[in-house]
Amino acid sequence: MSYFIGIDTSTTATKALLMDGAGVAVGVGRADYGYETPRPLWSEQDPDLWWQGTITAIRSVLTEAGVNGREVAAIGLTGQMHGLTLLDSRGGVLRPAILWNDQRTGAECDQIRDTVGRQRLIEITGNDALTGFTAPKLLWVRNHEPEVYTEIAHVLLPKDYVRLKLTGEYATDRAGGSGTLLFDLAGRDWSQEILADLEIPSEWLPETHEGPAVTGVVSTTAAVETGLAAGTPVVAGAGDQAANGVGVGAVTEGIAAVSLGTSGVVFSATSSPIIEPEARLHSFCHAVPGTWHLMGVMLSAAGSLRWFRDAIAPELTFEEIGRAAGEIPAGSDGLIFLPYLTGERTPHPDPGARGAFVGLTVRHDLRHMARAVLEGVAFGLRDSLELIGQQVVVDQVRIAGGGASSAVWRQIVADVFGTDLRDVGTTESAAHGAALLAAVGVGRFETVPKACLTAVHLGETTTAGPASDRYTQMYPIYRSLYPSLQESFGRLSKLNA
Ligand code: XUL
Repeated sequence: MSYFIGIDTSTTATKALLMDGAGVAVGVGRADYGYETPRPLWSEQDPDLWWQGTITAIRSVLTEAGVNGREVAAIGLTGQMHGLTLLDSRGGVLRPAILWNDQRTGAECDQIRDTVGRQRLIEITGNDALTGFTAPKLLWVRNHEPEVYTEIAHVLLPKDYVRLKLTGEYATDRAGGSGTLLFDLAGRDWSQEILADLEIPSEWLPETHEGPAVTGVVSTTAAVETGLAAGTPVVAGAGDQAANGVGVGAVTEGIAAVSLGTSGVVFSATSSPIIEPEARLHSFCHAVPGTWHLMGVMLSAAGSLRWFRDAIAPELTFEEIGRAAGEIPAGSDGLIFLPYLTGERTPHPDPGARGAFVGLTVRHDLRHMARAVLEGVAFGLRDSLELIGQQVVVDQVRIAGGGASSAVWRQIVADVFGTDLRDVGTTESAAHGAALLAAVGVGRFETVPKACLTAVHLGETTTAGPASDRYTQMYPIYRSLYPSLQESFGRLSKLNA
């Protein structure tokens, strides 16, 4: 029996998922870590955490499962997207990586729009300049740390630093590459035009590959460190969202996948490079060769619930909060929550957006506020689903992620969407997706969609119920609140910057 490993270099942990030849996850090893916020809006991480985390996670999953490294047939990589990892000519790390959730680059986003032209930027990359993306971070280093900038020889994404340590190769996948804002979306490779406009040397960037392509093999040194066998193939893999798409089977047009994690994502595969005209959706390459995906990202989904628990109801568990919310009728008796606690991306790309409870009266208590938080997140996800629905026909909506384990929340999402939801009972679906890409890469499955047909199992269906009518009335009110408050949010965030 041979096994496959998917490694997810996430923001808070590295996870190694061990999958058997039938596509079944048999164990997960993990190493947790934190990230630094040296200044407000900044978010940085030492790349060595990713490599040490990889060693720990692989060793622990192999030991726990009683599997020898020689039985692992291939490795797939995934991880947090957009992070800027800068290396010198000997592969040494030049500064802490600047992560996807860092917001310091507002001025550089303007600089990119001015230099390339906003419409041309969207035409080529499929996306507008957002503070989270990689290119503005590179310009920030040029503008603020010229002594670091002159030493740059290689620019990598987080998971590709792990690849370098595992195989000695500089390479990336096209899903990850398309999240840098330096990518030609339709051409599926670096955009020479954007690189020239921004005066970024193309030799800094690694070769790009489709998700299941083998980019190198585990080196002798890495084999000693990890317990894997030297020579084990490592495939390109994918950015965490595309890998998650594989893990939940969102690999063909028509299936939309909702992920209810710290951030909230609505994702749909597309068979051509579709661009939302105002770039309110992200448009990236998918991990399935020759396909793309659209995605709406809200920054605080389950993150809003965590905030509510920590700040308002620290004595309650998430289950108790769910139960409390379940005691209140749909619509929270007129209370609406705006979930923009850490700014927002879709549909309002605004780092200055803020959260709010609107409509409070003396009749509201903690249970109403809890329900309003769950409903506000569901409304935010509906914003993304509606934008996706304008571009592709959605036949089925799947739901996964930590928040999806709450039956109350799943029901609220189904009712707010007015559609049935299919549960995907996976844990660590990004790492699972990466393992499936590895299995496709060495011929265990013929194609990614065929791998998903074997490995992805659908669970319960949550059916939209009578509460949908109330949400249909409330959604336009929710929609009207951000535009009404936008200016005030901006003034508040400036005052407190
Ligand atoms: C995707 C994104 C996040 C990060 C961290 O655009 O920013 O999903 O990849 O997980």
